[in-house]
Amino acid sequence: MRNLLSMEYLTNEEVMEILLRAQEFEKGDDTLLTRSYNVSNLFFEPSTRTKTSFEMAERKIGCTVIPFDAGFSSALKGETMYDTVKTLEMIGMDAVVIRAKEDEYYNELLEGINVAVINAGDGAGQHPSQSLLDLYTIYKEFGYFEGLKVTIAGDISHSRVAKSNATALKRLGANVRFLCPPEWAGDFEAHHSWDELIEDSDVIMLLRIQHERHVVNKSFSKESYHEEYGLTFEREAKMKKGSIIMHPAPVNRDVEISSELVECERSRIFNQVRNGVFVRMAILETILKGR
Ligand code: CP
Repeated sequence: MRNLLSMEYLTNEEVMEILLRAQEFEKGDDTLLTRSYNVSNLFFEPSTRTKTSFEMAERKIGCTVIPFDAGFSSALKGETMYDTVKTLEMIGMDAVVIRAKEDEYYNELLEGINVAVINAGDGAGQHPSQSLLDLYTIYKEFGYFEGLKVTIAGDISHSRVAKSNATALKRLGANVRFLCPPEWAGDFEAHHSWDELIEDSDVIMLLRIQHERHVVNKSFSKESYHEEYGLTFEREAKMKKGSIIMHPAPVNRDVEISSELVECERSRIFNQVRNGVFVRMAILETILKGR
């Protein structure tokens, strides 16, 4: 694996190798890379979890983290993504972790760039490191994917997490269902009511409403969205024994999920964040060793 761009490009075997390596890191493996690779994190969209988690993972496996402030970089003077990454390559970077608002921004980096590119989110396209940490969270809980009923609920068409997870989970044999208002289904066939989904889901994965990617105001309020599509106390009470709640976060409390359910017994929302560090250590190690 030379880059991590999209879950579309990973085989099930590559996914499982990363999850199992993450498990070793979580159990305490503290093997460092044999040399100190230079890594920069280029975030052209806001991030709390992904950026900090990558930086923690980089430091834990012995990388040298070279700061890059996207909001104060020459990208603001119009420098292209290609020229930005080529410049960092010439300075001595071995890998760049990039989040950008353009879908598939990485296509312009496939030719002529020799550093590893790790996609930390491209517009409404893909979010592969989030997907891998979500898969790790599910794998830790159940130990398998085949036949698991996973409901992905929320702003499906604008969500890179939904697309990455739908691709990966279906390929691993999970039964993936979608729930959203009709106007947010995009290319997915979606349910528009919890009725057929709430009682038999093994995993309920909620998604943030991505106001920043909406071009028109939607007709419902936060309250009416919560009432119709959110995870309320009444709905959580119908979930089956052993089922779990996930959300990539940040969470719009009392919109996608009742605020008091965010840390309820079934919730794995903050566990996902913790798991992300081990998964990103595995991603970085796999890619840097493979080059
Ligand atoms: N889940 C996620 O990508 O969160 P951040 O936007 O905070 O990185």
